[in-house]
Amino acid sequence: MIFRQLFDATSGTYTYLIASRRGGEALIIDPVLEKVDRYLQLVRELDLRLVKALDTHLHADHITGLGALRDRTHCVTVMGEQTKADVVSIRVAEGDTVDVEGIALEALYTPGHTDDSYSYLMQDRVFTGDTLLIRGTGRTDFQNGDPRAQYDSIFNKLLKLPSETLLYPAHDYKGDTVSTIGEEKACNPRLQVKSVDEYVDLMNNLKLANPKMMDVAVPANMQVGLAQEDVAHREWTLDIAEALALIGNPDVAFVDLREDKERCKHGVIPNSLHAPYADLMQHVHAGGMLHEFARLTSRRLLFYCAFGERSAMAARAAQGAGLGSACHIKGGINAWKKAGGPLGT
Ligand SMILES: [Fe+2]
Repeated sequence: MIFRQLFDATSGTYTYLIASRRGGEALIIDPVLEKVDRYLQLVRELDLRLVKALDTHLHADHITGLGALRDRTHCVTVMGEQTKADVVSIRVAEGDTVDVEGIALEALYTPGHTDDSYSYLMQDRVFTGDTLLIRGTGRTDFQNGDPRAQYDSIFNKLLKLPSETLLYPAHDYKGDTVSTIGEEKACNPRLQVKSVDEYVDLMNNLKLANPKMMDVAVPANMQVGLAQEDVAHREWTLDIAEALALIGNPDVAFVDLREDKERCKHGVIPNSLHAPYADLMQHVHAGGMLHEFARLTSRRLLFYCAFGERSAMAARAAQGAGLGSACHIKGGINAWKKAGGPLGT
């Protein structure tokens, strides 16, 4: 396994680059905007293909690299379903897995630092974001933070993991890089409380200054979406009403770009083709399955995904590959459901 812990000294942020093998698919956790060039250099040097970029929560102390990585590698962006970020490709809930080749991360909903905080369990290690830090815990005094919820996330979820589980946080300001669940249980001063009320008291009396970057970072991180306004003005973006009008039209092929587990969970538009986004590039180029299908049947490809991010990138790629009529559904299956569009399994 390739496992790299990268550090942004300005914000004290740890970013993790993970892949199961050289030459394979990679995932990045909590990337920092200013470090994107460095990540991409490392991705190239290790001969990796970045396919997913994930934030454990909406950060207040740095601007996320999610949008820049998506724009430069066409990777899929991932956050928790509670996030207020405008457009991310996949929104996970408790128990969902985030998969790349040879690697599965299990999402644990661990609110408290923010209401969109998730931890991710991967075999012998857990990425705890700002929920549980080394000898500390993430502050709970803004962004819908809640010390009571954090106590529950830590004591009833994270500390229930095997004590030898390695703990990799999103931040450290002292230079520590890794701990274990057992070590934190024994040595983390914030965890030496006798009750939830004692923990709440402790957290409510920290009297911390707001992070320097907060006024810049929070609004920026809520707008990581693929320049949606720009994309919306293109003639190849259909709104829901336009898409609904094309149901049953023999000249149009609906193409679902989501992964199998998203399809099972949220349903599919009846009679859709399935072409997972991860393999899209090989399908839309000349000689690829979708390209030949569109050419031979003269049908218009109408891409959709969960929220419209992957489909916008797919429509752009298909256009670039010469499929001039390809288009996508703005807002994806999320908007389709809200509009009462028909769903099958
Ligand atoms: Fe944070």
